[in-house]
Amino acid sequence: MSSKVKRTYASRSNLLKAESSSTFLLANSTVLPLKRKQPFNEIHSQIAPSAKRLKVSKPKLQQKNLKQLHFCIDQSIVRTCKVCKLTYTKGAEDDEALHRAHCARVQRGMEWGKEEEREKDSAGVREIPGRVKLKDGKKGRIVCVDATATGKIGTKLSALLDTINITLSASTLSSKALRASKAYLFLLPGITPNKEKIVGCIIAQRIEKAMAVASSPHSSDPESDSDAASSRPLVNVDDSSGLFCYPELLPTALGVSRIFVTSAQRRQGIASSLLAAAARTFVHGCVLDPAEGQIAFSQTTGDGIALMRQWGHGGIRIYDEDDC
Ligand SMILES: CC(C)(COP(=O)(O)OP(=O)(O)OC[C@H]1O[C@@H](n2cnc3c(N)ncnc32)[C@H](O)[C@@H]1OP(=O)(O)O)[C@@H](O)C(=O)NCCC(=O)NCCS
Ligand SMILES: [Zn+2]
Repeated sequence: MSSKVKRTYASRSNLLKAESSSTFLLANSTVLPLKRKQPFNEIHSQIAPSAKRLKVSKPKLQQKNLKQLHFCIDQSIVRTCKVCKLTYTKGAEDDEALHRAHCARVQRGMEWGKEEEREKDSAGVREIPGRVKLKDGKKGRIVCVDATATGKIGTKLSALLDTINITLSASTLSSKALRASKAYLFLLPGITPNKEKIVGCIIAQRIEKAMAVASSPHSSDPESDSDAASSRPLVNVDDSSGLFCYPELLPTALGVSRIFVTSAQRRQGIASSLLAAAARTFVHGCVLDPAEGQIAFSQTTGDGIALMRQWGHGGIRIYDEDDC
């Protein structure tokens, strides 16, 4: 199963910004490149006091003698986990602990327990009617909550989004995007009674426009027979995804900015059932049809494209999550 993450054309510039500022100097003087820095505040706060600003007091002429310093990184202790794709420093206790916690979330998900159940009414959590039966026979349920929820549920959602963003190498969603978004969570009974696991999540948002995906890089516009339309260059979504779009921005109701299923539960139909729940309930009183181009994705990964094609019957569009 391919999990290779390919960046969205939309937020690549944000990612570059994030990546260029995401090199961390750890206590043991190694440099750890991370895709996202947010969940590693702890590391940040540990190193901040030692990061001192140098005062240059010599006359300008003497600056000729200044030399560029280079860090020597012992690559043998920098590891990238094959399961969660996180890069960490082997042997650095804090770093290994952070990796273990992240890896467990990616594989098995986060807990939804009594505290979340207690707070669900005040947080506005809505149960999507109907149990969902997975391919392996297990039964789960889907709940929906505003992406800006606060309290315990809001904190859990932020941690979940951090995990998803690291997995997708995606940037943090803007507050504007979050205000227009709902999170749909797939909950599966855990081993412990009264405790469930969040094994899937999609972030769905109201959008205005998106681009239709072309069936091949040389396709002509399906909605126009004119020569002018067919000769317009297609938009390359990503160099390695092989996805091309027609440049026209078409009215589109629903955007899916994040979609994630824990690695232990993939290919059971969880993502498809979350998407179906959003299509059914996101717009009150109106069921959205992906085949009719009413739903768009902003991220493109190998797995995501396969899901898009299968669930959306080729009708899923692409949108820019920074410009909607
Ligand atoms: C993409 C992802 C959300 C799919 O979740 P899922 O619950 O496994 O998807 P579903 O079981 O609903 O898949 C439905 C169909 O999509 C297609 N599909 C999904 N994942 C696929 C994969 N890795 N390879 C090939 N086809 C795949 C299949 O046709 C599948 O039906 P099948 O299992 O009967 O063949 C999951 O792999 C994931 O979280 N990946 C990491 C994050 C990511 O890449 N997100 C996508 C951003 S666009
Ligand atoms: Zn890992």
